[in-house]
Amino acid sequence: MNQRNNRRLVLFPVPFQGHINPMLQLAQILHNRGFSITILHTDLNAPDPSSHPHFAFRSIGDGLGQSEVSTSDLVRLMALINARCAAPFEERLREEASSPDTPITCLIVDALFGFTRDVAERAGVRRMVLRTGGATSLRVFARFRLLRERGYLPIEVSECRLEDPVAEFPPLQVKDLPGINTAEPKQLDQLLSDMIEGLRDSAGVILNTFEDLEQPALSLLRQEYPIAIFPIGPFHKCSSSSSGSLLAEDQSCISWLDKQAPNSVVYVSFGSIAAVSESEYSEIALGLADSQQPFLWVVRPGSVHGSEALEKLPSCFLAALEERGKIVTWAPQQEVLAHRAVGAFWTHNGWNSTLESISEGVPMICMPCFSDQKVNARFVSDVWRVGLHLNNGLERRKIAEAIRKLLVEKEREEVRERAAQLKEKADSCLRQGGSSFRSLDGLANHILASES
Ligand code: UDX
Repeated sequence: MNQRNNRRLVLFPVPFQGHINPMLQLAQILHNRGFSITILHTDLNAPDPSSHPHFAFRSIGDGLGQSEVSTSDLVRLMALINARCAAPFEERLREEASSPDTPITCLIVDALFGFTRDVAERAGVRRMVLRTGGATSLRVFARFRLLRERGYLPIEVSECRLEDPVAEFPPLQVKDLPGINTAEPKQLDQLLSDMIEGLRDSAGVILNTFEDLEQPALSLLRQEYPIAIFPIGPFHKCSSSSSGSLLAEDQSCISWLDKQAPNSVVYVSFGSIAAVSESEYSEIALGLADSQQPFLWVVRPGSVHGSEALEKLPSCFLAALEERGKIVTWAPQQEVLAHRAVGAFWTHNGWNSTLESISEGVPMICMPCFSDQKVNARFVSDVWRVGLHLNNGLERRKIAEAIRKLLVEKEREEVRERAAQLKEKADSCLRQGGSSFRSLDGLANHILASES
């Protein structure tokens, strides 16, 4: 255990799994550097304090009702969270800041909490920002307005040129630009512009990425924003952190994996938000059956629009499931990806999943759904070349073909080799003298320097 430095950091995650995980991991990294940690959290998706007994947890009442949080319009929900949290957050921050024993050295907020900019300023608290996504997608989000002015967005109006290159962001194609289904496009614009202004005015930005992965985007970000930028990822490999899972992890999949041959299993998971239709659900099942490979499939409650009942799936799939498959509602994903039996990850390319796969050298089958996922997927297939796209909809034969390409056929070796090289880069950036290791030193000093 490192010596405590008697400085306190207050961290405030956006209450979604893909944002809670990296914030708690960052908290653990900074705790290991000697900082005391207070986590502020909403009632919605409150983290489990017993998984992190060395952090203090303080709730701020968000006042959100069940019908409000059950919307599938994420933009509307995020705007609502920002609006509802502003007053209780300010009250809590002032209370925390006035604590005579442990003043706040720095507040670290999720970049999507735009309202914290004014609140922190009024409370006289220094504010840094964690952007939980990658550097490349951040640059794309920052140019949303420009992309619209140039006619690339919204994607629906560019329907006939979906495969055209986006000259400003090679190798992205029009179809890779982040689209989010919402009834409130103006609120999306507001959230994004608040995010960018909030970064610009912050005392520094922390990113869950590493130099060797996103060097071009990082160097452009540094030119575009005259602020300190700290790429210190992959977070989950920097320190062993307890799980921040909101759902119970089914550990039985690890003993099931223990019985499978090395690199034989396709792990299938589409993160904590993405959902598929009932017909897509059935097509995924048929593709898994046709692939003839062992599979571990996460079917989260609510991840199928309609019914996720197993009995509704075709009998050939149920036979394959019995013979060589496993379904769980939530997996210990990092452990799964690190398991020697897993040879491919069929993913929606949320940034955490993408980084977790890269960190274990697991090639990916990319099926991005919305937001940054499309940008991440294009980089996986065309830049890092550690995976392939499932193009043009879900179709059982294409699914089986993609799985066999990565698990059985000759070309799997080249992809696996590149994935192993990228994993080595992810490992080495965290070793003493590596880029993320040095950046973390810089971050710790930057936080402490604010006091002098
Ligand atoms: C969301 C957005 O969709 C994503 O695009 C953005 O980059 C982050 O916020 P989500 O869709 O949940 O996140 O995906 P992802 O970023 O991959 O995060 C999911 C997290 O849940 C990962 O850390 C993963 O390890 C974890 N997980 C997922 C589990 O622990 N078990 C599972 O069964 C599935």
